[in-house]
Amino acid sequence: MLEFDVTAPVTIATDPDQSRIRVDQIDLRLDLADEIMRLKREMNAVLLAHYYQEPEIQDIADYIGDSLELARRSQETSAEVIIFAGVHFMAETAKILNPAKQVLIPDMAAGCSLASGCPAPEFKRFRELHPDHIAITYINCSAEVKALSDIICTSSSAEKIINQIPMDQKILFAPDRNLGGYLMKKTGRKMLLWQGTCIVHETFSERKIIELRHRHPDALLIAHPECEESLLNRADFIGSTSALLKFTQESDAREFIVATESGILHQMQRLSPGKLFVAAPPQEESCNCNDCPYMKLNTLEKIYLCMRNRSPEINLPDEVMRGAERSLERMLQMSA
Ligand code: 13P
Ligand code: SF4
Repeated sequence: MLEFDVTAPVTIATDPDQSRIRVDQIDLRLDLADEIMRLKREMNAVLLAHYYQEPEIQDIADYIGDSLELARRSQETSAEVIIFAGVHFMAETAKILNPAKQVLIPDMAAGCSLASGCPAPEFKRFRELHPDHIAITYINCSAEVKALSDIICTSSSAEKIINQIPMDQKILFAPDRNLGGYLMKKTGRKMLLWQGTCIVHETFSERKIIELRHRHPDALLIAHPECEESLLNRADFIGSTSALLKFTQESDAREFIVATESGILHQMQRLSPGKLFVAAPPQEESCNCNDCPYMKLNTLEKIYLCMRNRSPEINLPDEVMRGAERSLERMLQMSA
């Protein structure tokens, strides 16, 4: 396990000025989509976007994908600059895999409840308490936690990776307890789980989903494995964002109740225009709880400004980069 100072400041900038848009910096007559395209050409930049981004961002992205696909895309591009329209841990991953490239993120405050619920000093203590366990860690974590881990995984690669670990090797899994529990069932492996959760995937109301299924008796319930176990037990299909999207394209079903962040409905509807997609309802009335508040911090304005100002930029200490690269490269090899 790599040793470094886990008491050093974490890499997410909390400076509120970084996430405040200065509207006065933008000429309101500009067509921002056109300007972003122009800057992409001028800067030799690529725009990578996660499925949870606003439709207008997805529509101008060079690539849209799940966490694993975007990590791979970041390595394949010949662009000199990567603009990452996603959350902080995704942009960090792109930087770790591409140290020589400039990686820009529209809003440095675009965090993730799973990453912030697993601080590096506590994760280090957790590992020290269980020295005979290897750490397979979900990519939704900080670069410091990646550097303290043996192998990183995503929701689309985790099962394949766990199945390659010798049966007598003990495993601890962090930070998502729902994904960890789901993987234990799928692989038959017992794992020690960190008790983190995603604030978005925890909000779905089973009662309202059951009511919805009465109104749409032919609809299939599809869910991301970050959802709680009781909801996953009811799901007809479980998978990463890309796997859910592919399933909706290939399935004969015409209606789907979608238990993941609502941004993905844009691609589902675009790729299967004749099918009906209903966002799984959250527990609270009239809240937008199935919108990830971090993903939705990104806007066209912030993308334009981060390109024009070449800031905020992801930079990490060398020893963190090296440690995190090792565990990420293992993920890429084991999921190939
Ligand atoms: P995917 O890798 O399935 O896109 O998941 C990322 C994520 O943050 C889910 O909440
Ligand atoms: Fe993190 Fe959940 Fe947002 Fe995904 S949806 S980025 S897991 S807070």
